[in-house]
Amino acid sequence: MTSVSDNLQVKILSSAEGVAQEGARCLIETARGRSGALVALSGGSTPKTMYDVLRGSSAEDAEALRSAFYFFGDERTVDNYHADSNVELAVSGFVRALKIPHSHLVAPDGAAANLDEEAARLTHRLHDHAQTNAAGVPVFDLIFLGMGTDGHTASLFPNTAGLTNTAPGFIANEVRQLNTWRLTLTFPVLNAARRVVILCTGGNKATVLRRIFDGTGGEFPITRVRGENVQWLLDEAAASLLPKSVGVQ
Ligand code: 6PG
Repeated sequence: MTSVSDNLQVKILSSAEGVAQEGARCLIETARGRSGALVALSGGSTPKTMYDVLRGSSAEDAEALRSAFYFFGDERTVDNYHADSNVELAVSGFVRALKIPHSHLVAPDGAAANLDEEAARLTHRLHDHAQTNAAGVPVFDLIFLGMGTDGHTASLFPNTAGLTNTAPGFIANEVRQLNTWRLTLTFPVLNAARRVVILCTGGNKATVLRRIFDGTGGEFPITRVRGENVQWLLDEAAASLLPKSVGVQ
């Protein structure tokens, strides 16, 4: 099995703070590169440190960040003010502080009564904003992803129907192992993005990363992220079991 590192960019930073700084740099670079850039933010806990970094952006960078449009790669089935909400993490993290216009944020409603209808609404909004590729898949300028200790990314978890759903947008995905549903982008959209940046920190990710990079982790959903420009940002703890040949210090 081909190791995923064959054609991926891997940057290893000394700490989670270093990953956050580099992630923030990628976002600012994208926002400055094109006014109205289309970005998908990731969830979980890792992005918080990056959002803390973004809060301290210069006036010029903040102006660029206000020009981008923000979607979310996935959202939990909670309302946008809930402590577990990926939207709340971003809003309290940098959106409010930098005064990102409300019209530039497409927030999933995880508390929607009908998640399929909410996924369709989000997909419609995405197609309103995005160019599509030859296959009719909307193209993000930048998608941030994280990785769980089971190798899931966005809300594409092992043994869920979402893994093989090829809809060009958002879906509602039942995650039986967590006894919940999630809203998530599908792999065709993740793989159509001009750039994907995977933020992955912490020693609890080291074992999964070793199996992914040595080619024995085929069952991990994140190995299905195979776009043209995928960059892993790892801290030394997460990268601790990888061969020294992987990654740029
Ligand atoms: C979510 C995320 C998910 C996350 C990983 C990593 O809503 O949980 O989108 O894919 O990125 O689970 O989470 P941590 O950053 O907390 O390790």
